[in-house]
This record gives sequence, C-alpha cells and structure tokens, in this order.
Amino acid sequence: MNFKTLLFQIENGIAIITINRPEKLNALNKDVFTDMDNAMDEVAGNKEIKSVIITGAGVKAFVAGADILEFSGLDKDQAIALAKRGQGVFFKIENSSKPVVAAVNGYALGGGCELAMACHFRLCSNDAKFGQPEVNLGLIPGYGGTQRLTQLVGKGKSMELQMTAKIADAQEALQWGLVNYITTAEDLLPKTKEILQAIQTKAPIAIAKIIECVNVAVTGKEDGFEKEIACFAECFITDDMKEGTAAFVEKRKAVFTGR
Ligand code: COA
Repeated sequence: MNFKTLLFQIENGIAIITINRPEKLNALNKDVFTDMDNAMDEVAGNKEIKSVIITGAGVKAFVAGADILEFSGLDKDQAIALAKRGQGVFFKIENSSKPVVAAVNGYALGGGCELAMACHFRLCSNDAKFGQPEVNLGLIPGYGGTQRLTQLVGKGKSMELQMTAKIADAQEALQWGLVNYITTAEDLLPKTKEILQAIQTKAPIAIAKIIECVNVAVTGKEDGFEKEIACFAECFITDDMKEGTAAFVEKRKAVFTGR
C-alpha cells in the first residue's frame, strides 16, 4: 500500500507502520490521520497481517505531537471535530483485533504519547522521551491522553505529568508502567518483532478476545467479568481451542489457524 505520510511494509506477518515526516519530527497532521485510518483498515482486512508495529521515521522522534500549525485559528466546533477525528483513529488502533505495539524511538510528546498509549503495549529506545506538554500551549490532551495516561500510570502521576508538562525519560516511563521494555535504538525493532513473532504462534481468536476483555477492564463501559465469561465461552467453540488442547494431550506444538 502507498501512503503520503506513512511507510507500510509487511514482514513475516507483521505490518510495520512508520510515520514518515521526520523533518517535522513526525507530527500528526490531517494527512497522517487519513493515512493511519486507512492503514488500520488494511490491517483489519489483510489476512497476511497478523500483528502491527507503529514507529517513527528518523532517529529523533516517534511523534513529537499533533501538528501545532494546524491548531491556529480553529474555533470551538473545529476543535471538537479535530479531537473526535484523533480519538476515532486511536480507538481503531486500540480496538484492533490484531496486536498493535508501539516502538517508541525518541520523542513521544502530546499526540505522540497518546498514539503510543492507544497501542496495546509499548517498547522504547533508551533515548525515548514521553510527555503531555499541552498545558504549555494553553491546551489539554485531546486524543485520549487524559484517559489513557491515567489508566496506565494512575491518577496522581497522570495529574502531575499533565499539569507540569514534565518530559519523562525511558527509565521513568518503565518505572511508571508506560512502557514494558527499554532497548538500545538498534535493538528496538528487532526486540519488538521478536515479541510479536512469539504472539503470532498463539491462537489469533484468543488474542483478539484478550484485547477485547482488557480494553473493557480499563474503559469500564461494560461489566468486564461478564465480558470475560462470554469471550471464554466463545473460545470453546473454535477449532483453535480443539487444536490447542489436543496438541497438549498429544505432547506436540499446536498449529493454530485462526478459526
Ligand atoms: N507540530 C508541528 N511541528 C513540529 C512539532 C509539532 N508538534 N514538533 C516539532 N515540529 C517541527 C518544528 O517546528 C521544526 O520545524 P522547522 O524545522 O520547519 O522549524 C522541526 O519539527 C524540528 O523541530 P525542532 O523544534 O527544531 O527540534 P528540537 O530538537 O529543537 O526540539 C522538541 C524537539 C520535540 C523538543 C520540539 O520540537 C517541541 O517542543 N515540539 C513540540 C512538542 C509539543 O508541544 N507537542 C505537543 C503538541 S500538542
């Protein structure tokens, strides 16, 4: 697939989506949202794709935020539309039935931190920087940051980070649970791919159900325990559950088909 602002390649079942505006530190403008929206449709519809990595082009930034130049002159209704658009695309990422992992290579500020947090989990390079500095612009996060940062790091730390506009380093992000692993810049993509390759050997429907249930746990929009019962039961009628349990009994490696 060809995109104006993204590089999109598929490698061993992993779609690697690279936001490609390095001269603007990969800031998220309208074109990036259009491309990302279409890229996630491709992810959902393309059977060759089993999982996704989102990263940024260049050595300096994952994404340094929403494109601040697009903010000027917006009225209230336009600001509502902008936030809804951003949140909509990020919901698509969060609710993807295929695992989406952020490989954060450098600055993940504002919308960049929000994008990383919309992914199912995150790895970062040791020079990564995280923050929600919108208050410096007289703003607050608008693409889900007030909610997801609080879910990930807890209320007190979330309040502090947003109120102070503090830029956190990789060690702090790890300590607070914002990222799962820190690597060198060179190892970031290899390590992320290694984790996804391992996930790709598991039953895809079970993986999709885990995503659904964990998302319910953090949004609280449904009863998560009821959701878990329903998803657990749905797994029982899959070929993959029969294969997984048969393989255990027969002392062999399961081969899952996603059915
Ligand atoms: N929106 C639009 N353009 C951005 C941007 C953003 N969020 N972040 C960086 N850029 C652009 C800069 O304007 C500059 O463009 P130019 O060369 O045409 O002037 C280019 O990217 C390089 O950035 P620069 O500021 O020169 O790099 P730096 O290494 O000195 O600083 C940052 C890096 C990340 C500290 C700095 O770019 C910054 O503070 N960016 C904004 C972060 C932010 O507030 N994000 C939240 C937005 S809601």
